[in-house]
Amino acid sequence: MSEEQPKPPSSPPASAPKTQPPVSVARRHFLFTWLGFAWTGFAAATLAALSTCLRFMFPNVLFEPNPIFNAGKPDDYDIGKVDLRWKEKYAVWLVREPEGMYALSTVCTHLGCTPSWMESEQKFKCPCHGSGFYASGINFEGPAPRPLERYAIRLGEDGNIIVDKSRKFQQEKGEWNQPDSFLYL
Ligand code: FES
Repeated sequence: MSEEQPKPPSSPPASAPKTQPPVSVARRHFLFTWLGFAWTGFAAATLAALSTCLRFMFPNVLFEPNPIFNAGKPDDYDIGKVDLRWKEKYAVWLVREPEGMYALSTVCTHLGCTPSWMESEQKFKCPCHGSGFYASGINFEGPAPRPLERYAIRLGEDGNIIVDKSRKFQQEKGEWNQPDSFLYL
């Protein structure tokens, strides 16, 4: 009588996953992934802190033009005219009158736009909200609450006009009566 041979183990059911990693491998993979994230985050934070430190070592420096400039001789300016030659470079209009000159700021006193000089209408007109100023700088229309500001102006020893933008004169404070707010010629 022959003994029954042991049957070979039957093949796993088709529905069972074929390559499921052992639990310990999956756990290790999970761990490495999160370690990677953590190190990347740490490196990014360190770089950000380092770049902040470097910025403090090299602060932003604003090189602004000298607020004092030589505007040439009074005879270079026509009497009764608003002169535009310093508008772009220094944001200043020079106005020549029969008895002297003054330097007007080109900054609108409403919200800071730059008005344009309208020769035919003899006024400065602001393109932003329509404020109008006479050649003197006095506001007369639109929302601007006060006149344009004037800068200090004087004659240098060589007879040239010196404009000093670091000193301002406001009409509403009675400062247009102060010396240097107007250059008598
Ligand atoms: Fe000039 Fe508003 S900024 S009218």
